[in-house]
Amino acid sequence: MTVTDAADRRLRRALLENIPDMAWLKDRDSRYLAVSATYLEALGVTETEVIGKRPDEVWPPEVAEVYLRTDRGVLKSGKRRRYEESRRDSSGELRWYETIKSPMRDDSGRIIGTVGISRDITRRKASEAELIASRAELRRLSGAEQRARESERARIARELHDELGQTLTAIKMQLVSMKTREPEPAEAVAARLDKLIGIVDRSVSDLRRIATELRPLILDELGLRAALEWLTQTVGEAAQLPISLEFEAAAPAFDPDASTAAFRIVQEALTNAVRHGAANRVQVRGRRRDGAFWVEVIDDGRGIDPSSTASGRLGLAGMRERARSVGGTIEILGAPGRGTTVTLRLPLSRGRPRGSRR
Ligand SMILES: Nc1ncnc2c1ncn2[C@@H]1O[C@H](COP(=O)(O)OP(=O)(O)OP(=O)(O)O)[C@@H](O)[C@H]1O
Ligand SMILES: [Mg+2]
Repeated sequence: MTVTDAADRRLRRALLENIPDMAWLKDRDSRYLAVSATYLEALGVTETEVIGKRPDEVWPPEVAEVYLRTDRGVLKSGKRRRYEESRRDSSGELRWYETIKSPMRDDSGRIIGTVGISRDITRRKASEAELIASRAELRRLSGAEQRARESERARIARELHDELGQTLTAIKMQLVSMKTREPEPAEAVAARLDKLIGIVDRSVSDLRRIATELRPLILDELGLRAALEWLTQTVGEAAQLPISLEFEAAAPAFDPDASTAAFRIVQEALTNAVRHGAANRVQVRGRRRDGAFWVEVIDDGRGIDPSSTASGRLGLAGMRERARSVGGTIEILGAPGRGTTVTLRLPLSRGRPRGSRR
C-alpha cells in the first residue's frame, strides 16, 4: 500500500463519517463497497452487515427493486440520475429523499460502479406543501375580501339612500310647503321648525353611525383602548350581553395597520362569541408581557370545536391573516362547554416611537 493509498482511505473515511447525507459506493453488481455513517444510522445496521451486500439483501423488496433498477440505468447510460423518493423510516414515518446516482469510472474511463447520495428533504417538502396551502388560503381570502367590500358598499349605498336620502327629501318637502302655503301663525311655524330640527338630529346621528361602522375614527384619534371601549359597549348593547374590558397596562400607540388589525380581530372574536358561542359573558383583556402586547377575548360559551377551524369559514382565517400581516400571532383555544379564548399577540416593535403623532 502506498502512502497516497492510505491518505485516500483516510480521506474517504473522514468524508463518509461526517457527511450528513446517506452516501455509498457500489460495484457493477450493486454490491456496497462503502457507506456513510448516516446511511448506517438510517438503516440501523453495522458496516459489516452492509458491505458486500446488494440492496435486496438490506432493504425491503419494493425499495430494493427501485434501487437495483436505477443502478442498472446509470450503469447502462453512463449518465447521472437524480430523483425524489419517499419511504418510511424505522418509526414508520413517511420521509422524502432527493437521490443522485452517478457512474464511477476507472482511469481508462470504464464504468466500475456507482456512487450515490441521498438527502432527507422531508422538511423542505413539508414547507413547500405549507406554502402551496397558504397561497390557496390567501387567494380564497382576497376573493372573499373583494366580495365583502362590494356587499359592504351596497349596504352603505342602501343606508345612505334609504335613510339619509329620505330624511333630506322630507325636510325639503316641508320647507317647500312652508314657502308656498299661506302665512301661518308664529306658533304653527315654530312647531313645524321643531319637527324639522328633530328630523335633522336623527339624520346626524344616522350619519355618525354609518360613518363609525365604516371606520371607527376613534381608533385613529384616541387609540386602541378607546376604540375597544366603544366596540365592547356597542356589541354588548346590541347583543344584550355584558362585555368587560380590562387593560392591565396602557396599550402602546400602535401604528395604524397594527391597531386596525387588533381592532378588527377583536371585533370578529366578539361577533363569533355572540353568534356561535351563546356566551353569557365576554371579557376582553390587554396586557404587556415578553416584548409583546396581548389581547385576549374570553367567552364562557359552548366552546369552539377545534375541527371547525378548518371548515372553510373566513372569520378565523381572516383573523390569522390580519395578525400575521402585522407580525403578530393568533391562538384559539376552546373546550366543549368551557368557552373559547382568542389570544392575539402583537410585538411591541409595532408601536410608534414616542412623541410621534398618533
Ligand atoms: N367563540 C366561539 N364559540 C363557539 N364556536 C365558535 C366560536 N368562534 C367560532 N366558532 C366556530 O368556528 C366556526 C368558524 O368561525 P369563523 O369566524 O371562521 O366563521 P363564521 O363565523 O361561521 O363565518 P364568518 O366567515 O362570517 O366569520 C364557526 O362557524 C363556529 O362553529
Ligand atoms: Mg365569524
